[in-house]
Amino acid sequence: MAGGSVSECKEYLFKVLVIGELGVGKTSIIKRYVHQLFSQHYRATIGVDFALKVINWDSKTLVRLQLWDIAGQERFGNMTRVYYKEAVGAFVVFDVTRGATFEAVSKWKHDLDSKVKLANGNPIPAVLLANKCDQKKDSINNSTLMDNFCKETGFLAWFETSAKDNINVDEAARFLVENILANDKGLPYEESNGDRIKLDQETVAAESKAGCC
Ligand code: GTP
Ligand code: MG
Repeated sequence: MAGGSVSECKEYLFKVLVIGELGVGKTSIIKRYVHQLFSQHYRATIGVDFALKVINWDSKTLVRLQLWDIAGQERFGNMTRVYYKEAVGAFVVFDVTRGATFEAVSKWKHDLDSKVKLANGNPIPAVLLANKCDQKKDSINNSTLMDNFCKETGFLAWFETSAKDNINVDEAARFLVENILANDKGLPYEESNGDRIKLDQETVAAESKAGCC
């Protein structure tokens, strides 16, 4: 840590995955969250993209969220095991206007849980995002059903989001980070996962032609 005067300040680097079917809005959610931007234009992600969000969590805690934006088409590839490595949290996104993307949520969650775990063997905290809620006003009219689905599939919670209208994006991220921090007490960035994540990026860059940082 630079300088002795801030010895009480803790910095964390968390790797967070954003996964889900093609075109559900993963890149848009990240762009909204990190850059406060939205575009109607769809350009499919190839492989994986990265974004960094720095959060002044409180007066003593700085959190760097390294967001791994994984292309929807990657569920059928063989790189997800590499991409998921050392992740400490995940968003699984579906599009409320396309039922098939919700049906694929359990497949993504299963892929996630089978390939990455916390050091204690528990699944990494995951939050379900029902995106594009601006398009269907009464889309999730059965929230009990969604609550039950989350319990069954092991999501901590679900949020209706809109990257377009900036609905619930910050709230969902805050919720996930709270849960990651709760799992990560006493492991500040410099001493723990910082170096490992750096190595991971190098691994991915070497193994995936599509990676960019
Ligand atoms: P892949 O990279 O192919 O996996 O897709 P993706 O999940 O990253 O989707 P992307 O963010 O590229 O969004 C796909 C399309 O949905 C784009 O045309 C976006 O403008 C649109 N979109 C994303 N989020 C929203 C939203 O909240 N509301 C509306 N109306 N459109 C959205
Ligand atoms: Mg994308």
